[in-house]
Amino acid sequence: MTEPSAPSPAVPDPSELSEPVRIDAGGWGFTWVGDGQGVLRQVGLGPSGHSATVDVDPRFYPSAFPTWGDEDPFRPSALRVTHADGATTTRLVVADASRSGETGEEHIVVHLSDELQALDVELHVRTHSSGVLEQWVEITHDEPGPITLFDYDSLFPFLLIDQAAELVQFGGAGWADEWRWTTQQLHPGTTSLASFGGLQPHLQRNPVILLSPDGPSTEDDGAVIAMSVAWGGNTRIDLDVRPAPDAEQPRTLRLRAGANPVGAEYTLDPGERFVTPTVAWTWSDDGRRTTTRRFHEWTRSRVLRAPERLRPLVVNNWEATFFDFDEDRLRGLIEAAADLGGDVFLLDDGWFGTAHPRDDDTTSLGDWDHDPTKLPHGLAGVADIAAENDIRFGIWVEPEMVNPVSELHERHPEWVLRDEREPRLHRNQLALDVLHSEVREFAAGVVDRTIASAPSTSYVKWDANRPITDPSSATLSADRRSNLWVDHVRATWELMSTVAERHPDIELMLCASGGGRTDHGTLRYFHEFWTSDNTDPVTRVRMQWACGHFFPASTMAAHVTRWGERPMPFAAAVALSARFGIDLDLATVSGDERDVLREAVEIARRTQDLVQQGELVRLLSPVEPAPGPGAGPDALPSDGAALAYLSPDRHRAVVFAYRLDGPAGVGSSVRHLPLHGVGTDDYDVRSTDLDGTTTHDVIGGESLRSTGLEWSPAGPCSARIWELTRR
Ligand code: GLA
Repeated sequence: MTEPSAPSPAVPDPSELSEPVRIDAGGWGFTWVGDGQGVLRQVGLGPSGHSATVDVDPRFYPSAFPTWGDEDPFRPSALRVTHADGATTTRLVVADASRSGETGEEHIVVHLSDELQALDVELHVRTHSSGVLEQWVEITHDEPGPITLFDYDSLFPFLLIDQAAELVQFGGAGWADEWRWTTQQLHPGTTSLASFGGLQPHLQRNPVILLSPDGPSTEDDGAVIAMSVAWGGNTRIDLDVRPAPDAEQPRTLRLRAGANPVGAEYTLDPGERFVTPTVAWTWSDDGRRTTTRRFHEWTRSRVLRAPERLRPLVVNNWEATFFDFDEDRLRGLIEAAADLGGDVFLLDDGWFGTAHPRDDDTTSLGDWDHDPTKLPHGLAGVADIAAENDIRFGIWVEPEMVNPVSELHERHPEWVLRDEREPRLHRNQLALDVLHSEVREFAAGVVDRTIASAPSTSYVKWDANRPITDPSSATLSADRRSNLWVDHVRATWELMSTVAERHPDIELMLCASGGGRTDHGTLRYFHEFWTSDNTDPVTRVRMQWACGHFFPASTMAAHVTRWGERPMPFAAAVALSARFGIDLDLATVSGDERDVLREAVEIARRTQDLVQQGELVRLLSPVEPAPGPGAGPDALPSDGAALAYLSPDRHRAVVFAYRLDGPAGVGSSVRHLPLHGVGTDDYDVRSTDLDGTTTHDVIGGESLRSTGLEWSPAGPCSARIWELTRR
């Protein structure tokens, strides 16, 4: 046996090339080219990837979208299909490419067709002026019967990476542990970051990564790729690393991202179109500050509803009362919330159920009529109290869910997601099957009727407190039950979009047992999300830090609570660095605590435009070992954190610094926080610890930039806030 001959690396005959497809994302990009055989190749990727030249035979470049059964039997593929005739191989060739739109708003489509089968695949790329690229794939076919998709990634780039390449992944142990930051080296083998559970998959793992292909990066230095899968269901990001043959050469990485196809093979009928989730990503050569700025710009422009509108200061009753309230208790809370200066009073779980009052989480989901015992004058009565106190009214719903103990379940036991087995309960409840159009109409109607019962309602918190455990829908035939995982996301988005369209002026908070639905796909129908049920400010500093790499602070609801029993000035200062709110029993807060809250509300008023719409600059990381002596792979995370938000014109800024708990580390010593990015003029600086001490100073811009603000932490769980205004 002889080795099969490889093509010789000669300079290609240009006649063999189709026109290169150059994707200029703004400061980075890539080039695709069809080789002589029509296979789409990735010629360049990275900061100059869009201007790459083809200087060897294009067949030596990696395939841009490998399929199962094409040239590389040693790597996984982006697309794996069983065709109508049972064949399992797919070989795609370029049919054509099209381009529309202006620079920064381009839409590029490369159309591929199978050599043999009547299968068409479109690779879609959309640019955005921020430098974030959106990529997705659309699959259609005209085969003589249905085909089955086993792998359907949204993108599959090839990268050369350093031995020291690093990955940051975000995900923890589950509920109350969202956004946990883990930095790891990328070793040979496949690192698979997959999520499961369908309805609230991001409780386990946020569908985002940061990748430093050349080794560790910092805020202002090094190559960084930031990526987000905009999908409200199970996702998968796989990093398949191969060792370099010798130390002089880089390792190779195949990065795949999209919906998680495990258990979710998709049966596609002829003429139907399968659209993969959009994956958004960007590449910076100068550190994470740039990837963050780009993601924030892109999120505001392409994802968020009403990005220009300041988010309200929400006072919620959940942690204050849980299910234990009546109209009188709410009146007290509303009056106190209004007295403090809140914008919205949000009535959480427990307000509904007539045959089965909702006094705990065992009953009533599905029965969305107010509980007449707790609320004798209905929701309208509570909304009226809010109106009398000049505060807006908001309400909590969980429209996709049902408790077996409910009138809805008695009427429609067939409306739940389940297979032949007895469905499993999770938080005592079942998920409604939103694949039924009737169920979607019911769920949208829950929001309609709830708002109609208190027409001054202007804010809704939409919750979903369980995963999918019995994945089957009566709407799916026996041979396509596994379509559920994809179709469920689409049906849910259809429902959410109906609600958003019917109630364009209602502000919507997205919640799923905390941050179980924090993805850029689902967020399109909402204004903000509940970042996590975990509101311990020490944990929240780290969660908000991580989340802020992808989402602007306007999206991250952060409420002052008693979680962790931390000092009130510290808890308030942490909430002030995101979308500020309060979730406390205001009847029992002490006079001192009320003073802290009052001052916090004043600071929120002065700084919310900066926090929600300014540019985030991170100064001291609470999730990575602090720089300085003792730093190294085994060093503890810093016990300090500092971040700033700057106005676009640099006339104003707000800076937050936190000393966390635990043994004193680098965050507990006096330190300086240089503020790059401020102007050179003098700034009025107002500094407060929220404990009654406020000082005023004038500091020159040059000094702020070089020496920085001086901070000597008062001890564990303390904070300082500086407000800067150019003189
Ligand atoms: C979930 C949410 C909480 C609260 C409760 C109510 O856990 O994340 O904020 O609304 O449900 O049951």
